[in-house]
Amino acid sequence: MQPESIILDCDPGHDDAVALLLALASPEVELVGVTTVSGNQTLDKTTANALRVLEFVDRTDVPVAAGAERPLVREQHVAAHVHGESGLDGPDLPPAQGTPIDRHAIDFIADEIRARDGELTLVPTGPLTNVALLLAIHPDARPRRIVLMGGAIGEGNVTPAAEFNIWADPEAARRVFESGLDVTMIGLDVTHQAVIRPEHSKRLRSSGRVGAMVAELVDFYGKFHGRTYPELGGSPMHDPVALAHVTTPGLVEVGEFAVTVDCSSELGRGRTNVDRRGRNAQPPNAKVGVGIDGDAFVEHLLERLGTL
Ligand code: RIB
Ligand code: CA
Repeated sequence: MQPESIILDCDPGHDDAVALLLALASPEVELVGVTTVSGNQTLDKTTANALRVLEFVDRTDVPVAAGAERPLVREQHVAAHVHGESGLDGPDLPPAQGTPIDRHAIDFIADEIRARDGELTLVPTGPLTNVALLLAIHPDARPRRIVLMGGAIGEGNVTPAAEFNIWADPEAARRVFESGLDVTMIGLDVTHQAVIRPEHSKRLRSSGRVGAMVAELVDFYGKFHGRTYPELGGSPMHDPVALAHVTTPGLVEVGEFAVTVDCSSELGRGRTNVDRRGRNAQPPNAKVGVGIDGDAFVEHLLERLGTL
């Protein structure tokens, strides 16, 4: 079966870095490129981190294109309290040796979509600024589908109402959900069930240099989650779940619902209102993750990482 061509649009970020490694370890996808956006850290740092991870696994053949350095409308907010000053604190990864390509991320994405007659899937795992700009500036370049990490049916993680990727740029997210494209939302409801626990980190440490590096990523990432979500018992693998939904259908159960993004209220800023019961009588505009076999996902992730 022909691998699905994908571009990972990300803000590395610890879990973005693991999603990138999972993409490289998954024969079901062809990683055409990595595009970066400001989110977990500033654009210069998320771009450097994408380069650092690719260099660590000797995959500098994968192009990195830098994108938006701030949200469409809102002020930039980074998540240094979660990912550290570098955005990838924890492992002693060398500084980036390479540089991103000399094309803006949205032009790179548009060119790759056109070159494949639309047969390219976008996997955004950061704020959706680049995707919204793509839709605005290159409306002809429509991807096959968008499988994004973001949002929540229930509780948020930046505010009680909203998840970070959507909260950081709600106007961009609204544009994506209203695009009419095939959109899948992998939200906190499923990613908080996909947790790497200490016993998994122990296995990672003995599964080679990549596994050892991932264990150091998870150890650092676990500090924030240990304080804020002690009930999880480890680090949720938000972005790898979105990637795995592309490579391995069946791990995540989805339902089709109408999703609207709150861009108006301050308290509700960035909330993804998922109308599971059709109360607003609006047609569904997205598939939304509603269930996951968390243990099966983690086993799948560790097995794949072990092949790098
Ligand atoms: O809320 C979790 C999401 O926000 C993840 O993608 C994480 O990397 C941050 O971008
Ligand atoms: Ca991310």
